[in-house]
Order: sequence, then structure tokens, then C-alpha cells
Amino acid sequence: MKTHPVAQNHRRQWLATAATLGVAPWLLSACAQTASAPRPTTDQPASAARRRLGPLEVFPIGLGVQWHPSGPQGVVDLYQSRTTRQGGVALIRRAADLCINFFDTAEVYGPFMSEELLGEALQGSRRDRAVISTKFGFDVDPTTGQRRGGVNSRPAHIRQVVEAQLRRLRTDRIDLLYQHRVDPNVPIEDVAGTIKDLVRQGKVLHYGLSEPGLQTIRRAHKEHPVAAIQNEYSMLFRGPEAQVLPLCEELGIGFVPWSPLGMGFLAGTVKATSRFEKQDFRAAAPRFAPDVLPANMALAELVQTWAARKNVTPPQLSLAWLTAQKPWIVPIPGTTNVAHLEENVAAASISFSAAELKELNAAVAAIPIRGARLPPAVLSATGVEAPPKR
Ligand SMILES: NC(=O)c1ccc[n+]([C@@H]2O[C@H](COP(=O)([O-])OP(=O)(O)OC[C@H]3O[C@@H](n4cnc5c(N)ncnc54)[C@H](OP(=O)(O)O)[C@@H]3O)[C@@H](O)[C@H]2O)c1
Repeated sequence: MKTHPVAQNHRRQWLATAATLGVAPWLLSACAQTASAPRPTTDQPASAARRRLGPLEVFPIGLGVQWHPSGPQGVVDLYQSRTTRQGGVALIRRAADLCINFFDTAEVYGPFMSEELLGEALQGSRRDRAVISTKFGFDVDPTTGQRRGGVNSRPAHIRQVVEAQLRRLRTDRIDLLYQHRVDPNVPIEDVAGTIKDLVRQGKVLHYGLSEPGLQTIRRAHKEHPVAAIQNEYSMLFRGPEAQVLPLCEELGIGFVPWSPLGMGFLAGTVKATSRFEKQDFRAAAPRFAPDVLPANMALAELVQTWAARKNVTPPQLSLAWLTAQKPWIVPIPGTTNVAHLEENVAAASISFSAAELKELNAAVAAIPIRGARLPPAVLSATGVEAPPKR
């Protein structure tokens, strides 16, 4: 798919500026400011500190590793961006060597392949500097990797999955283990209790939940403190602002936005006339449908205008907007491209004045996004409450 001409033009300007200045100083500045700085407070710029996700401390921008096999040596993301297995390993190593220390993956990404590549990339000296987060919870055949459909958070299954994850990740502990989706058949107390046992055994250090119901968060946190909630959040989907973010603030839970670049939309890679291949996840997502896309482009245009105003790129603006919302938010953009990775890392040094943020937030709020964020079957697995413990 082609890049939007305005985005292309802006990217060329940015790359020209970066070439003049040298990209490395940008990156070094983004990394250095975070490595040495004190804990964040609400009045510090987004760039000025490492961030807390509950008890964890991480660089303000993480890396999502959600790749699937494409031929014997190929790797593809949900939006048809591609690299090779070797390219993927090199990209993760580049991220770790820059300053990213927070990596996100899951059993079901591949299945298994993303965890395997992350384990291969981080083994050795990079492992101890990394915070590895992964997820269990979809029903995946442990031998064949076949998705059997639906979810599975039965305690015996969780224990079995974790053993296999430790092997694939080539590590003796998972820093942050999420339940990928709430299992409507398993009380969350049983899930949290199982994880508490794994924590006692040192196999898991912290845990989180992805797209859970609000009461499920409270109940899980009561059983064992939740470190992070991972939900979709970006300028394209602001759902968590109503209830989930206030609850995280109340309970001292960190928040990890998935699809922080709106599946590429906020990075300027979608245009009004874009049509997605059948294999592209966006082909089935109502907000990317031909009848609503032209209207939704108003948001991409706003991002481009603000990026130009701040002399940054659209993806940088979009990531910095997220980190500016709360000091305990850490986005995990996905990429298969090293130049994009470097561009995203540099977003950690961008901040907004209070007046800028107020103006930008109001402008974003004034653009209604048409079409649901996810296909109906995927959407129905979000916000689910676990059954009561009897
Ligand atoms: N918990 C959950 O249920 C859940 C669901 C979805 C995702 N996630 C996690 O969240 C992570 C990120 O989400 P996501 O991959 O769905 O969406 P995303 O990060 O919003 O967007 C990824 C897309 O943006 C493009 N991109 C990234 N940086 C760019 C840049 N600087 N310039 C231009 N294009 C850029 C990538 O293409 P290139 O490869 O060409 O850069 C990729 O196709 C995933 O990797 C996964 O770890 C979790």
C-alpha cells in the first residue's frame, strides 16, 4: 500500500532534517533523557523519565512483536507489513540496543513464532535488561499450535502454557504475564490464584489483563495486585478514557495501549481510497470500510497538521500524545521496519505544553470516528466479566 502523499512529503522533510542532524543524536537524546531521570510526576514532560507500570520500570515506548509466519523464512504482521525471521531478530536486537526494554508478545502470535523470535533475539546479555511481557488465554493446541477457537484460562492450561512460553522465550521467568482475554467460564480469582502460585515459584514476576471488564479488574487486583491493563487506546479509539483509565489510576495499575498507531492509520499509511487485502486485519474492521474511511481521514489530517506544527512525524506525534495523557501509560507500537522503530523510539523525547495538549485533545474529540473499531466477533470478546467464584 502507498503512503499518503502528505505523509510522504512530511516524512521526507523529517528524514532530511534527521539526516542533517544525524538520526543517532535524536535517538541518543530520547534514550539518555529517560535513562538518567527521576520518576515521573504529572507536571514533568513525557520524555523526562522512565515510566512505572505498577511495580515495573520501563522506557516510555515499548515494542510490540505480533508476527506470524509467511513462507519458510518470512514474517508478516496483521497489516501485511513484512520482514524475514532474521530481520525480525535483528530488529528486536536493535530496539534493545537503543533503549527499549519493554517487549510485548503472546502465545497466540504465530502461534508460538513471535515468542520464539523474541527469545532468540534477547538471549544472552540483553535478557536481563529486558522486561518481557507475553500472554496466555486463547485455546491453542500446545503441540500443533492450531487455534482450537475460543479462550482457555483453566488453571492447568495456564500452567502448561507458561512452561512452554519459558522454553520458547529462553528464560526462567516472565516479567509480565497477561490474560489475553477473559474466559467467561473461569472465575478471575482462579486465574489470579494460579498466577500467584507461578509468582511464588519465580516463573512469573507480575501479571496483567487485556480488554477485561471493569469488575474483573477489581476482583483480580484484590486477589493479587495487577501490574498493567493492556487495551486498545489511541487518538483513533479513546474508549479507555471513560472508565478504564480512572480505575487504573485509582488502583495504581499501569496502562499499555495496544495498536497505539491505530493499525498504521495514525502513522499516515492509510488514505481515503485504501482498500485492504483479505488477509489484512483491517479489511474486516468497520472503521476502515470504504463508506466511512473518507470521513475518518479527518483525524489523520489533524495528526499531520499537528506533526508539522511540532516538527515531528505523524507516528511520533501519535505516540507522544499517548504518553502525554498519563505518566503511567506505555505504548507498544508494532513494526517490521528498523527506520520506523528508530522513528518511534525518538517519540519519547517529545512533550506538549498544557495548553497544546488541551487544544489537541479538544481537536481530537471534535472528530467522531465512524464504524466499530473491531469486527463483531473480536469485539464481543472485549470488556467481558469473569463468572463469579462460587
Ligand atoms: N492485547 C491485544 O489484544 C493486542 C491486540 C493487538 C495488538 N497488540 C499488541 O500491540 C502491538 C502494536 O499493535 P499493532 O501492531 O496492532 O498496531 P500499531 O502499532 O498501531 O500499528 C502497526 C502498524 O503501523 C506501522 N508502523 C509502525 N511504526 C511506523 C512508522 N514509524 N511509520 C509508518 N508506519 C509505521 C507498521 O508497519 P511497518 O511494519 O511497516 O512499520 C504496522 O503495520 C502489537 O505488536 C501487539 O504486541 C495487542
